[in-house]
Amino acid sequence: MSKKKTILDLQQMKERGEQAAWMVIYDSCMASFAEEAGMDMILVGDSMGMIIYGYEGTVPVTMDMSIAHCQGVRRGAPNTYIIGDMPFGSYQSSCEDAVNNAVRFIKEGGVDAIKLEGGVAVADRIRAISNAGIVVFGHIGLTPQSSAAMGGFKVQGKTTASAKAVIEDAVAVYRAGARTLLLEGVPEETAAYIHRILPIPVYGIGAGSDCDGQVILAADALGVYKNFTPKFAKKYCNLGEIATQGMKEFIDEVKTGVFPAPEHKYKFTGDRDEFASFLAEYEKNLEL
Ligand code: KIV
Repeated sequence: MSKKKTILDLQQMKERGEQAAWMVIYDSCMASFAEEAGMDMILVGDSMGMIIYGYEGTVPVTMDMSIAHCQGVRRGAPNTYIIGDMPFGSYQSSCEDAVNNAVRFIKEGGVDAIKLEGGVAVADRIRAISNAGIVVFGHIGLTPQSSAAMGGFKVQGKTTASAKAVIEDAVAVYRAGARTLLLEGVPEETAAYIHRILPIPVYGIGAGSDCDGQVILAADALGVYKNFTPKFAKKYCNLGEIATQGMKEFIDEVKTGVFPAPEHKYKFTGDRDEFASFLAEYEKNLEL
């Protein structure tokens, strides 16, 4: 088993030109698979709102939900670098709130770093959390928590004016003290420029190849989420199909009496005659 990474390892990976692979995961079982597979990092993303809780977006996710999922992921992957995703409402109102909630992620959630969405507008929050000694991952471009303000889940930085805004966000996040930056839903040309100018690791999800690594939702990559698959996601297997097939077989075997088979049953080890006379006696006085 490889040693748990630190933020310095992530920085060195960038400097060596080694790509980092990370997945968005919300539970202990999946986290243990990721650790076994050698995943560099796990993000406990607020996309849990859609994938786990069936909401239409990420906005309803709360601090308590996020912390509970971080704890589960940490138990499943004790040696993996884990990032907690600050939910909508946990850092918007003040720097004090932002620091208090980031501290909860570290102390209660057991994560190594936090991620929050936004650029210029949240630079003071990033600075305050960083000054509290907590590693911050920035997240700009298509930021799902503000999709309503963006008019939907829209790719950002497709024109020069829009790219300028994304680049300014990137610079603001870096200057505020973020130790890495995640670009979501940004054309490769815009991402490549940001990757070229920033000295910190720049990761992508829907931002092309010119980054220091890639993140994907396990639910998309493993075929768990049926409602929607973004253009940038690749499906590596189809757990959904396998699960449905397994469930159909279970239903069929229960209805036909094939399951449980002898190997799934516990054995009675007492004296059978004694048991039979106990039952007969018991039944004489039984009133239902
Ligand atoms: O919550 C999430 O899944 C994310 C990814 C889009 C990176 O923030």
